[in-house]
Amino acid sequence: ETTLGAAAAQSGRYFGTAVAVNRLNDSAYTNILNREFNQVTAENEMKIDALQPQQGQFNWGNGDRLVQHARSRNMQVRGHTLAWHSQQPDWMRNMSGQQLRNAMLNHVTQVATHYRGQIAWWDVVNEAFEDGSSGARRNSNLERTGSDWIEAAFRAARTADPNAQLCYNDYNIDNWNDAKTQAVYRMVRDFKQRGVPIDCVGLQSHFTGGSNYPSNYRTTLSSFAALGVDVHITELDIRNAPSDAYRNTVNDCLAVPRCKGITVWGIRDSDSWRSNESPLLFDGGGNKKAAYNAVLNALNSA
Ligand code: G3I
Repeated sequence: ETTLGAAAAQSGRYFGTAVAVNRLNDSAYTNILNREFNQVTAENEMKIDALQPQQGQFNWGNGDRLVQHARSRNMQVRGHTLAWHSQQPDWMRNMSGQQLRNAMLNHVTQVATHYRGQIAWWDVVNEAFEDGSSGARRNSNLERTGSDWIEAAFRAARTADPNAQLCYNDYNIDNWNDAKTQAVYRMVRDFKQRGVPIDCVGLQSHFTGGSNYPSNYRTTLSSFAALGVDVHITELDIRNAPSDAYRNTVNDCLAVPRCKGITVWGIRDSDSWRSNESPLLFDGGGNKKAAYNAVLNALNSA
């Protein structure tokens, strides 16, 4: 196959990208999107501050535009993200306690209901654990409503859209030996044991190259999968886009049957949140980089 999406589809997987909705007006951007990718995630437009800027007032325009674009082209949509300590609108950041809990659950319910049937996977909760060696939950306004906020969010999402796959999504959970990875693993194991509705784990995979691509990444993917959840590589980008790190990442996913697909966090280097690191598969002119060929070849050899 000659495109990323078609190559991934040979093994039943998808290959997707984060999309900045305002760039859909840029034909160079949209041509690559439509040619190469069969899955999209809104880079910012389905975050809490974007969808509910004032309490009770929802702004669906940009999210709907992306969903329309995707569905009319048979691209699957990952929803990002229903509950997160970051990118909260001011009205939510100023809340606490039961009022915040109710507002968070209402947001989950309203958004998952609006998009019911159109979202393949929701990042229900994003980035709820601390970095470093503590293995603790991140101290956030949501966590301070009670540490059961995560499972409450998953239950609300399941009720609102029973057919969406519900994921927990985080960064720095790539190295199997890290305390953060182990802490998320224990949460997912606990959720599966107690019947909390979780279907998948998203590993963001913002790598810096070299030693930041962990040699035990495949172990991490397969260990989560062994809990009975799918795994997704949800926000892949790698500093300087080394071909070997991209190839290894793809091969690790292909080696794990429950690794369902890969999403890169942007199309061209100039579209990236870390554009000064040139971490993506296309250069600013839309040309395929060496890493692109490494990824395509790996997908085609599966
Ligand atoms: O569009 C406004 C612009 O009007 C305004 O003038 C400007 C001034 O700050 O901000 C612009 O919005 C920025 C937006 O990106 C679009 O460029 C926000 O400030 C900025 O905070 C936002 O950054 C995003 C970041 O998440 C924060 O939500 C990045 O684009 C996005 O790539 C990044 O994505 C996250 C994932 O959601 C979660 N995992 C980590 C990943 C990287 O940080």
